[in-house]
Amino acid sequence: MDEQDVALIEMHAVTARAGETILAVGRRQAPRRVAGTWSMLTMGTGPTGAPWLLHRLYLRKKEKLDASQVEFLANVSHELRTPLTAMAAASQVMLQEYQSIQPDQLGNMLALLVRNTRRLESLVSNLIDAAGLQNGKLQLRKSAATVQSLVRDAYDFVLPLLDAKHQRLETRTTGEPPVLTVDAKRIVGVLVNLLANANRYGVPNEPIQLLIANEGTFVRFTVRQKGPGIPKEEQALLFERFYRTSSGAAVSGGSGLGLAIVKDIVEMHGGTVGMHSKPGLTTAFWFTLPIDGSGGVA
Ligand SMILES: Nc1ncnc2c1ncn2[C@@H]1O[C@H](COP(=O)(O)OP(=O)(O)O)[C@@H](O)[C@H]1O
Ligand SMILES: [Mg+2]
Repeated sequence: MDEQDVALIEMHAVTARAGETILAVGRRQAPRRVAGTWSMLTMGTGPTGAPWLLHRLYLRKKEKLDASQVEFLANVSHELRTPLTAMAAASQVMLQEYQSIQPDQLGNMLALLVRNTRRLESLVSNLIDAAGLQNGKLQLRKSAATVQSLVRDAYDFVLPLLDAKHQRLETRTTGEPPVLTVDAKRIVGVLVNLLANANRYGVPNEPIQLLIANEGTFVRFTVRQKGPGIPKEEQALLFERFYRTSSGAAVSGGSGLGLAIVKDIVEMHGGTVGMHSKPGLTTAFWFTLPIDGSGGVA
């Protein structure tokens, strides 16, 4: 933490009474991030020999928050405007020329409308989910769902996006795909986020792989695609809200919310997420879900 970036918002000192023990004396811990804030513990011994403990709580300074909010708004507005502009243009042409339009031209325009509707739909779902996760109001509605039905729904959703970049989806399963107890809409959203990222950040004309493997009491989903890879130093930050890699941010104005939502939703189901990337070769994002549905909070 850079101390200039943060403001001290709270400080309390605790002095141990006779008979009480403090874990360590004379140690100053490095600031640690706890629930979005920074904390620092300092321990020492007073003039009378009584140990004391000081807890400082920091918050990022307002201007830092504002900068990231402005950047987020700019990204999201761009994400909203780009598909809307394309949709407005295509529908206007269809309206003005519907009597003379050739079937394949019409097909292309309808594909454009569907593709951009999907982009908007997934952005808006991410915004709603991010708000729900942030204020603790997002609740899972779990029921039985087959892996096949989850994958099919996600595939139907992203197909227009994949088609536009000529990216085939190759699905490979290892073991009998289980029935899961999940919030199907949200797990489909998780798959859509990972597939949409592979679509957006992957190279055209290269297949995207979806691997589904039973691993004991968990099932693991991996989405892998060819691409430039993600440098090691950026990998640790990918699942943070608003984080976008320097090369990713150059691709288009995403929101930086997708992977943070993926992580939260998967963890609420009792699963885990991760990624691995071979620079210049492939990037893979994975998540697991417990097969018996007993993990996480309903
Ligand atoms: N499959 C991928 N290949 C390469 N980079 C990726 C991939 N998925 C995500 N990223 C990087 O991680 C960042 C965060 O992803 P995400 O949270 O989905 O936000 P967004 O897609 O809106 O930017 C992206 O901006 C991009 O830099
Ligand atoms: Mg994304």
